[in-house]
Amino acid sequence: MVKPDGVQRGIVGEIISRVEKKGLKIVALRMNVIAESVAKEHYNEHEDKPFFASLISYVTSGPSVSMVIEGKNAISTMRTINGATNPADALPGTIRGDFAIETGRNVVHASDSVDSGKREIGIHFEMSEISDYSKIDEEYLYE
Ligand code: RTP
Ligand code: MG
Repeated sequence: MVKPDGVQRGIVGEIISRVEKKGLKIVALRMNVIAESVAKEHYNEHEDKPFFASLISYVTSGPSVSMVIEGKNAISTMRTINGATNPADALPGTIRGDFAIETGRNVVHASDSVDSGKREIGIHFEMSEISDYSKIDEEYLYE
């Protein structure tokens, strides 16, 4: 997900481009303002944390771009591309390392496990919105 700060700062294309250039496959994509109830469900693991209210207000503050991304090791690869949660710890070359300063404005989200990925896809997408297709570069991306 490109969070609302990423949209406002005009780096949606840059972020999508990094995903595409890596060789991962985008199978669903949408821009919308996430409803508060949906944001609370998405981040329910953090509901007891002191930052929960500000996190919900941040991710619902404007449109965000949600994607379903497929590929070998897609979960760990996307988290590496995003970088550490706190941008101060995120390496240069990662999205958060290159484009963010503070944890509470860290530009992107990625699921942290296959189970959370499935759960979050179910929260944000209908199955009919997810495209099952092959890309012509797969023959050269995978041996
Ligand atoms: P995300 O879920 O957004 O991909 O981020 P993450 O796995 O790297 O980090 P997580 O621990 O799941 O935290 C979710 C989001 O909450 C905000 N946060 N603020 N102020 C704070 O201490 C704090 N800690 C986390 C960040 O926006 C973080 O991405
Ligand atoms: Mg997380």
